[in-house]
Amino acid sequence: MAREFGVSRSSVFNAMEQAQAFGVRIQAVRGKGYRLPHAIDWLDSGFLNRRLTSLIGNVELYLHSSLDSTNTWLLDRLEDNPGTRICCAEHQTGGRGRRGRSWRSALGGGLTFSLAQRFETGMAALAGLSLVAGVGVAQAINRHLPVPVGLKWPNDLVVGVRKLGGILVEVRGDLDGAAHVVIGVGLNVHLPANVREDIEQAVVDLEELGLSVGRNVLLADILISLHETLTRFRREGFSGLRDEWQALDAYRGKTVKLLRPDGSSLSGIEVGVDEAGSLLLDEGAGGVSRHLGGELSMRLAI
Ligand code: BTN
Repeated sequence: MAREFGVSRSSVFNAMEQAQAFGVRIQAVRGKGYRLPHAIDWLDSGFLNRRLTSLIGNVELYLHSSLDSTNTWLLDRLEDNPGTRICCAEHQTGGRGRRGRSWRSALGGGLTFSLAQRFETGMAALAGLSLVAGVGVAQAINRHLPVPVGLKWPNDLVVGVRKLGGILVEVRGDLDGAAHVVIGVGLNVHLPANVREDIEQAVVDLEELGLSVGRNVLLADILISLHETLTRFRREGFSGLRDEWQALDAYRGKTVKLLRPDGSSLSGIEVGVDEAGSLLLDEGAGGVSRHLGGELSMRLAI
């Protein structure tokens, strides 16, 4: 490698160290060199651009090796044109999750991307949008997996109680003027043990579930599905997609606990969502209560 790239052996060693810091597993074989026990299936901008422009039309795709966060990158570059802008990164240094958490993945071991669109209707008409994003992503993944992926309100992608992916929706704009929406999706494709150890909840990745396609085909299908779902949302609102969300609901009928940021909680049976995407919780004698997404988190009550 040193000869091929015209650098010193210590530069190769440093590069290998850096790659491991990005979450890539590298084996050093004495007397031979380095080996990737798990080859990376890199994203291909040519393939993605061809697939997306033929099916979405007015789309701009930005593919980066490393970024702080694809959501932040698009939020810093909002434009007033009516098309779809997509930003993907092989690695994020500051991936963000809901409720101030971080999103961890290894270089080339996940899908981390964001999609930006402009909505003329203003923020008030966007109720349920983050749930709709989950529907678009889950339906596309389910075409390529032998086991069904479900949704955990508001928009986590789960298999059983293990998390496969998450969605972070961020909105900028006025209450009734135009609004810019950035939908960020993080999916575990191949989560190496060192990254898994840093995540404080049960997780699962697409490879262990038996994903039947490569990252490029999956990403293109998810983006097309997400785009179609957003187009329907513009026409029909959340109520037009409510049944599809409920068909994917992995926690329906289960006894759950809703946690508020101040540490308080309430329990009940999860009985689906209303026409605006608020969670419906059957509290028994207390009746059925409605809860808006935002800062809430849901757990199985044990
Ligand atoms: C969550 O489950 O809390 C949401 C996670 C969302 C992570 C994705 S990765 C791509 C995009 N860029 C970010 O910084 N976050 C989202």
